[in-house]
Amino acid sequence: MSDGKNATGLELRSLIRKSGELELSLATVSVPEPGPDQVVVKVAATPINPSDLGLLLGPADMSTAKAAGRGAEIVVTAKVPAASLPFLAARLDQSMPVGNEGAGTVIAAGTSEAAQALKGKTVSMIGGAMYAQYRLIKASDCQELPAGTTATEGASWFVNPLTALGMTETMKREGHKALVHTAAASNLGQMLNKICLEDGIGLVNIVRSAAQAKTLRDIGARHVVDSTASSFTDDLTQALVDTGATIAFDAIGGGKLASQILAAMEMAANKTAAGYSRYGSTVHKQVYIYGALNTGPTELVRSYGMAWSVGGWLLTPFLQKIGRADQQRLRQRVVSNLKTTFASHYTRVVSLPEALQLDAIAAYAKRATGEKFLIDPSKG
Ligand SMILES: NC(=O)c1ccc[n+]([C@@H]2O[C@H](COP(=O)([O-])OP(=O)(O)OC[C@H]3O[C@@H](n4cnc5c(N)ncnc54)[C@H](OP(=O)(O)O)[C@@H]3O)[C@@H](O)[C@H]2O)c1
Repeated sequence: MSDGKNATGLELRSLIRKSGELELSLATVSVPEPGPDQVVVKVAATPINPSDLGLLLGPADMSTAKAAGRGAEIVVTAKVPAASLPFLAARLDQSMPVGNEGAGTVIAAGTSEAAQALKGKTVSMIGGAMYAQYRLIKASDCQELPAGTTATEGASWFVNPLTALGMTETMKREGHKALVHTAAASNLGQMLNKICLEDGIGLVNIVRSAAQAKTLRDIGARHVVDSTASSFTDDLTQALVDTGATIAFDAIGGGKLASQILAAMEMAANKTAAGYSRYGSTVHKQVYIYGALNTGPTELVRSYGMAWSVGGWLLTPFLQKIGRADQQRLRQRVVSNLKTTFASHYTRVVSLPEALQLDAIAAYAKRATGEKFLIDPSKG
């Protein structure tokens, strides 16, 4: 198995049946020999992020979840509401591998120079199907880690770091000078604070508790507003005046917050406007919804003129848009700062079977501040 030949390994699968049932299980899959440009990686660390939960759990009602079997034989089932099934047509009855990113050791390599160069190296990877003991992958989808960087330190190298960098890049490319971020004490939000401090960019953090505000202030955040405070609208407007932020990245999506941000941006624009405009301010106000922490409807109460837009933002199309050279620049910044700016912290490290235990699912499905899980598929 050390050279990857004739290896078999466990791979976590998520299946939603047409009958409306989610099934999570561990499949035993064989690991093919790598083609010329491919390598086989023994996966040692792969995070469970909110972006993985969409594929892993889908819209299943996890209060109905049941587990049967032990160890690698564990199978979890839960009901999926019938109303969600039409939106899932493209995945129904397909057993899908899960896990966007991860890291491990290259145990077999194809004949190409790029693949051979990675043999025995610790690499980070992107490309899905990381909740597995072995991952066959193109050498170009691997990033060699600097000497002294572990797989655990390199596991969350792509999704959150590049999204945080993508936010400040988008801000600059679209002509804004500062930005707003919601659910701002998240793992990603903490990275964004460090980036903005390093780059001298104004950042308004919106959190929903005093504890989250403290977490951010402790890492140097200058503008933190609590959406549960009675002074929220005034605090937010003042922070927008102070920073000049006219673009926001909203991880929550559902509810009124996106609209409250646009309204506060309009009030901030009016405070600094030279004169009155009956059609609202001419300053363009942008909210990008980039997460779905609240899956309810987005409610817009249009009190902010006509110079605004609300849209979606996703990492992959952003990376395609900026092209290979800029992607490389951003990746290099992440890899050089994995132990500092882009460090992730985990509350629990679990094996593949442990990741399917009901108490573990209940914990990571909460998407709570500072409660990130890491899977070590080589464990147990
Ligand atoms: N669009 C993209 O390309 C892209 C890429 C990467 C990440 N993302 C998104 O980025 C977000 C952050 O990811 P992460 O890994 O950094 O998250 P994380 O560390 O797991 O933190 C999640 C945060 O969201 C808060 N939260 C959860 N539910 C909430 C709700 N209904 N209203 C307000 N706050 C809520 C939590 O606070 P409490 O402790 O108060 O619950 C916590 O601070 C996720 O939404 C993820 O989907 C999007």
